[in-house]
Amino acid sequence: MVSVFSSRVYGSWKEKQLEKYEDLLPVLLEVLPRVLRVLDVGVGRAWFEKFLLDNGFVLERVVGVDVDEDMVEPRKKFVEYHLTNDFRTGEEFDLLVCFDSYHLLPEDYLDRFKARFVLVSVPKHFSATLKRLKGRIIRKGVIGRQEEDVFVLVERGF
Ligand SMILES: C[S@@+](CC[C@H](N)C(=O)[O-])C[C@H]1O[C@@H](n2cnc3c(N)ncnc32)[C@H](O)[C@@H]1O
Repeated sequence: MVSVFSSRVYGSWKEKQLEKYEDLLPVLLEVLPRVLRVLDVGVGRAWFEKFLLDNGFVLERVVGVDVDEDMVEPRKKFVEYHLTNDFRTGEEFDLLVCFDSYHLLPEDYLDRFKARFVLVSVPKHFSATLKRLKGRIIRKGVIGRQEEDVFVLVERGF
């Protein structure tokens, strides 16, 4: 599918993304179960899931959805990839993640998925899009230094 990003430019964002994940870590450790089944929409290179693994989480299953085959390269062995803009599944996940991609998705796209927790982070100037998110807000805040994001962690139940 056609890329909205350059995967070469995306490669240079790793440090910026890691800063945001680091800022989130205390919240993740406090709220999330240590063993997770994760669905990531806009998974890119799955840096977030690698970060979770590096920080003691056990990922039972990782399903990664993206529209751009270049953005997911190099692929991670622990991710089951689906390259589509219309992913559907009845599977239940502990965590649905949408990191810096929620503002690129059709409205209500995440509502079709079953997940106990939903973590969404968007660049600050897209923070208004977070109002669409359904679920009980557990935490929200600002993360990142080189680039500031607004994140929301909601609990939905299955
Ligand atoms: C800024 S990157 C973020 C990647 C990753 N979440 C991270 O934290 O590094 C946004 C990703 O969303 C993907 N994307 C854009 N539109 C999408 C859609 N409709 N469905 C799934 N992924 C999409 C892009 O291809 C890209 O990989």
